[in-house]
Order: sequence, then structure tokens, then C-alpha cells
Amino acid sequence: MTRRKLIAGNWKMNGLKADAVALAEAVCSKYSSLENKTFDMFIAPPFTVLDAVCDVVADSGVWVGGQDCSVFEKGAHTGDVSPVMLKDLGCGGVIVGHSERRADHFETNELVKDKASAALSAGLGVIICVGETLEEREVGKTLEVVGAQVKGSVPENATAGKVVIAYEPVWAIGTGKVPTTEEVEEVHAYIRQVLADVLGTDIAENMQILYGGSVKPSNAAELLGLPDVDGALIGGASLKAEDFWAIAETVM
Ligand code: PGA
Repeated sequence: MTRRKLIAGNWKMNGLKADAVALAEAVCSKYSSLENKTFDMFIAPPFTVLDAVCDVVADSGVWVGGQDCSVFEKGAHTGDVSPVMLKDLGCGGVIVGHSERRADHFETNELVKDKASAALSAGLGVIICVGETLEEREVGKTLEVVGAQVKGSVPENATAGKVVIAYEPVWAIGTGKVPTTEEVEEVHAYIRQVLADVLGTDIAENMQILYGGSVKPSNAAELLGLPDVDGALIGGASLKAEDFWAIAETVM
């Protein structure tokens, strides 16, 4: 089974307009100049610069999206952004269920699933994030927690072309700490098994599962070379075009 690799950048709450446009330009010019686009590239800038970044990205082949979306299409939901609005800007996808949203905004698996469903209905691709806390890992509950998040957050109509899972151990995000390759492979293989149980083997075998959490140029080759790791969701290192590209080069 050869699944296409996906290199995804989560810019989080970083980037004023000029910097965001410059970063997007740098990434897109490199990607569009590739003769053979053997992997996919996605960037998720903050909402405030999405429009400008969508313009930059245009025909480069890079996929752009939001970092979150509402479950609603429109209406009285102050401060929220609907998947239809993202689609209207030219976005191709959206990240849902990032651990920072689960923690800071008390997002539950159920809400994450509703957001993913709303995004799919709007015609967006979805990256659904899961991952255990340090405490959960230390008491040996990693697979239990991650399995429950996958079962609870992935919509029943998820397909491999439209839904991507990102395994991001909470304790590895922005900390420089990374699980061992054995630990990463164990969780990814388990996620694929859970996906097979809920969506069927065919979808599970084709669905991309990304690793996220302190991915850097120095550790990318090792992580991205694992059998069940189909790409990376990159935070800090996606804010520097050279680092983001150096990570992408490991899958070329
Ligand atoms: P990091 O963030 O690469 O800065 O650890 C990853 C993420 O939160 O998606």
C-alpha cells in the first residue's frame, strides 16, 4: 500500500499580513516549481490572513485551509467562521480537534465530529487531530484515549480522500520532545486498526495518518519513514519556509 505523503503546516496564531504572504509565497514557489509533485502540501494560516494567502496560493497546487470551523453554516454565532465561508475564500480544507482547541475551548469528541461533518458537507477536506496528554501516556492509557478520540471524532461518512487523521501527542507539541519511533508506529498502526473497525479496511488502508509534535528537519526523515506515518502536521517549523521545505524534502 503506497499512500501519498502530506506535509501540513499549522501556523497557529502567528503571522501578520506581510509576513504571512511572504511565507506563503516562499512555500508556494518551491512547491509549484517541482516537476513531479509526489506529495501533497497544506498550510493553515490564521483566519485574518486566509484571504491574502488564498490569493498567493492560487494555482500552485498547495492546499490551504482554516485551523478550525463552526458546526453551523451561518447565523447568530459571534466570532465563529463557517466551513462554507472557508470554501468561499478558496480553502480546500480545515483542521479540527487540535489539542489546543480541545484544551482552550473545551472541545469534545462529539463537537469535533460535528465540525468535521459540517466541513465535509461544505466540500472541504478535514484533518482531525487526536493525541494523549503526558499524564495519560504515563498511566498507560495512550491507545485507549487515542482510540476513543478516533471513534468519537471521525464522522461515519469519512472517506480516505477527504479525511486525514493527525496523531499529535499533547506533550510533544511545541516542546521539542518526540516519542520514540516505536511509540509513534505503535499508535499509528493502532489508529489504522480502529479506522478499519469503524470505516472498513479499504478506507483505513487508504487514509493518511500524520504525525505531529516537534517535527523538525532533523527528525523528519526518521518519523516520515515509518510504515504507518503518511506525513506530518507541523507547527513551529512551518513558520520558516526553509525548515518547512527541508521537512518536505525528506519525502521527495
Ligand atoms: P509543533 O506543533 O510542531 O510546534 O510541535 C504541532 C502542532 O500543534 O500541530
